[in-house]
Amino acid sequence: MIRFDENTKVFRIDTSKTTYVLGINENQQVQSLYWGARLADGDHFAAAKAMPGHSSFDLPVTTTPHEYVGWGGGLYVEPDLKITFPDGNRDLALKYVSHKINGDELDILMKDISLEVYVTLQYKADGETGIIRRSAEIENRTNEQFTIEQAFSATWNLPRGTDYRLRYLSGRWGAEWNVQQQPVQPGKTVLESRRGTTGHQNNPWFAIDREGSNDSEHGSVWFGALGWSGSWEITVEQDTLQQVRISGGPNSFDFGYRLQKGEHFQTPYFYGGYSSEGIGGASRLLHRFEIDSILPHAPHPALRPVLYNSWEATEFNVDEAGQMALAEKAASIGVERFVMDDGWFGQRKDDHAGLGDWYVNPQKFPHGLKPLIDKVHSLGMDFGLWVEPEMVNPDSDLYRKHLDWVLNFSGRPRTEARNQLVLNLARPDVREYVFNVLDKLLNENDIAFLKWDYNRNWSEPGWPAVAPEDEKKVYVDFIRNYYSILAELREKHPKIEIESCSGGGGRVDLGVLRLTDEVWTSDNTDAFDRLLIQNGFTYAYTPGVMMAWVTDSPTWVNHRTLSLEYRFLSSMQGSLGIGANLNKWTPEDFDTAKKMVAQYKGIRETVQRGSLYRLITPENNSEQSVTESVSRDGHQAVVFAFLHSSTELYPFPRLYLRGLDAKAVYRIDAMDSRLAPDTPAEASGAYWMEHGVDVELRGDFQAAAFTLERKN
Ligand code: DGJ
Repeated sequence: MIRFDENTKVFRIDTSKTTYVLGINENQQVQSLYWGARLADGDHFAAAKAMPGHSSFDLPVTTTPHEYVGWGGGLYVEPDLKITFPDGNRDLALKYVSHKINGDELDILMKDISLEVYVTLQYKADGETGIIRRSAEIENRTNEQFTIEQAFSATWNLPRGTDYRLRYLSGRWGAEWNVQQQPVQPGKTVLESRRGTTGHQNNPWFAIDREGSNDSEHGSVWFGALGWSGSWEITVEQDTLQQVRISGGPNSFDFGYRLQKGEHFQTPYFYGGYSSEGIGGASRLLHRFEIDSILPHAPHPALRPVLYNSWEATEFNVDEAGQMALAEKAASIGVERFVMDDGWFGQRKDDHAGLGDWYVNPQKFPHGLKPLIDKVHSLGMDFGLWVEPEMVNPDSDLYRKHLDWVLNFSGRPRTEARNQLVLNLARPDVREYVFNVLDKLLNENDIAFLKWDYNRNWSEPGWPAVAPEDEKKVYVDFIRNYYSILAELREKHPKIEIESCSGGGGRVDLGVLRLTDEVWTSDNTDAFDRLLIQNGFTYAYTPGVMMAWVTDSPTWVNHRTLSLEYRFLSSMQGSLGIGANLNKWTPEDFDTAKKMVAQYKGIRETVQRGSLYRLITPENNSEQSVTESVSRDGHQAVVFAFLHSSTELYPFPRLYLRGLDAKAVYRIDAMDSRLAPDTPAEASGAYWMEHGVDVELRGDFQAAAFTLERKN
């Protein structure tokens, strides 16, 4: 519920468990007043009052916690908006003009003190999770053009405090989703991508809690995530008065967007939330929000089918007979979707050629894709296909014909990565080409799923075809076209499902998740490494979109040998896929796989839609990793436990479950035989949570899983 007090000029946004308050201060600035746990309806807020400055060096404009502030008038903290006007003026002072409340949405209109520059701050509150979606719309009502040099979506201000701790996600190819922690100290921390895409290195997500008073399930956590798949930036800043503010949006580095008279610029969404149940509660709120409000078909996105992907088995050596043989084997263990990966098109023998030429390779598939697709269907599976539509190999017909279609600066080198260049999707002709290629593929073939890959980041991000003053629009227009292709494809082909992949988890954010059904978590498919990778992933994103394949052992990653059971249990914590070379499997492997795929189908809804509790995280070189998922209806819980290596005869730690109904009775069922022999067959939720469960894991790389089914 959103309320406005005419007397105090205070807005109050209440959701079931949170309250967010802002007001118009005496300078007509929009000022943050409170963000945290739900307050009583009668709690009263006095009118906002700008902070006093701090000496002659920090003026009130810098010390006041603004909801959204233009760069001007002696502002030294991070601005949300910076504009250069044609006359050289770069001063911008935004003041409140009016507002509109419409259900759970609030729009606040602001305007510069003299120029006809209008900014609408947009808020949308989700009543259940308390997550607020914010963005800003910038409008040029002046008589001239101007250039936006920084256009953030929002600033979030935290309550006063000096004991804050920041969590964020870092990584690199093959090692995404590392959880980092550091105290918030005076100065600024910048999380960002300058790569043209979301990136593996940082992910646009943050969580801040209070060091000392918090643990994983208790205490206040403020968190946020940006919905933008281009270069992005989130700054976490503690100012001279020890106030903490988090700002974010498209990256301001090399940014420039010329806005003509009458034009608007809409920033991406920046989502923010609050949990009083520690970082675990914060993750669960985000998961719920993603499922209920972000994903395609939300609040009822389809459960992920068990898929088989041929990449690690065949790499580029795909052909009709080989894929059909794999499909038969995949079907025999209960796979529901067969996906052919890279190598099926153009003159693609390896990564040196073919990207851009999206015709079926006639040597590998002399009769087109139809025989393979028919075969896959006859085996009871649907068919998926790999594409990488934004890329081109210089060795391709497309590049030979359209040298000017790639990102480049005139007369400068074109840096290749994986022997490929990036098509400039901001160009209308490239956008049309890419859309038509995909549309034709889907029109001509019965394809249920596209794995949309993206295997390099940008270099030389020039767009010589437009006026030099507009070249930097590429940072925005590219991403808008990427989104619009996804949206248009989905509209024309409503049954299609899409995976966002970028050499693993390089393009995962709340922007792309609005248009794709799942994401590829990492190219690192070693089941032990995956425990850490998947653990980090779930801080920000639901296991329901986290693709996890069972691959060969020893792995190509590090030559580690792991049992097939261990590999399955690791992958079953997310959306299960098989990526192994089934031609090498023994009859026993097929039996094991068949059993475990069936088990997965019995717990999939709990894993993909339920509430996740990290009972033991694998962070900090922990010897153990344990997760528990509780189904949304509370009827099932599933626990996965992993041991790296036991030492000195210590038993595996007892597991104290969470999220059960203390009074209900649950029946325990071991998915293997690792439960301690004295474990009762049935007990109350209180027993499982307070007494706990012992699993017998000893040795190296051991794994166990069990379920609890509610009886009453
Ligand atoms: C990178 C992806 O992450 C892999 O799964 C695979 O699809 C390769 N690209 C294919 O080139």
